[in-house]
Amino acid sequence: MSKNRLCIFASGRGSNAEKIIEYFKGSFDTTIDLIVSNKMDAKVLDLAQVHKIPQYVIGNKKSFMQSDSLLSYLQEKEITHIILAGFLWLIPKYLIQAYPDKIINIHPALLPKYGGKGMYGMNVHRAVKAANETTSGITIHLVNEKFDDGAHLAQLECDLHESDNAQEIAKKVLQLEHHHYPRVIETYLKAGQ
Ligand code: GRF
Repeated sequence: MSKNRLCIFASGRGSNAEKIIEYFKGSFDTTIDLIVSNKMDAKVLDLAQVHKIPQYVIGNKKSFMQSDSLLSYLQEKEITHIILAGFLWLIPKYLIQAYPDKIINIHPALLPKYGGKGMYGMNVHRAVKAANETTSGITIHLVNEKFDDGAHLAQLECDLHESDNAQEIAKKVLQLEHHHYPRVIETYLKAGQ
């Protein structure tokens, strides 16, 4: 079996990244070989240090969008899949072309609702609350050139209570993310994708 060498892209605290790293620790066929961030002070980079995973900080958005120096680095590291875990920039075309159906994202809502530009973090949960939704959840999907638009790999729901505020909704959704994201990635990789 060929080995899956994952790279995690994250911009923030990295709680999903941490669950993924822990989940695949000791795996024979899947390793986390690189963490990429667009923020030098992102907490996810502390995780890279703790777990001794190489890290790469993207210098600026223009170079990310237009140059393929990051791609050369991913290829040098023999990265096979890119896992987005709270990465806030749109993925450029050259990366999507180099990794077709091999870039996975998680979104903290039931897409196509509450997706698209600007729908990230608490913005999502506030919008869910404002619409008085009785359920929310997560969508794990492949990445294409538009925000939150690729084929769905899994959707998981949670019930919301009338009294849940946006913070409480965020907590319920994050629990789902932490449990399911590593497992859905594993299932997808096992299917040979
Ligand atoms: C998660 O809610 C994920 O769905 C979204 O960004 C958030 C990242 O959180 N794409 P964390 O940094 O993994 O804690």
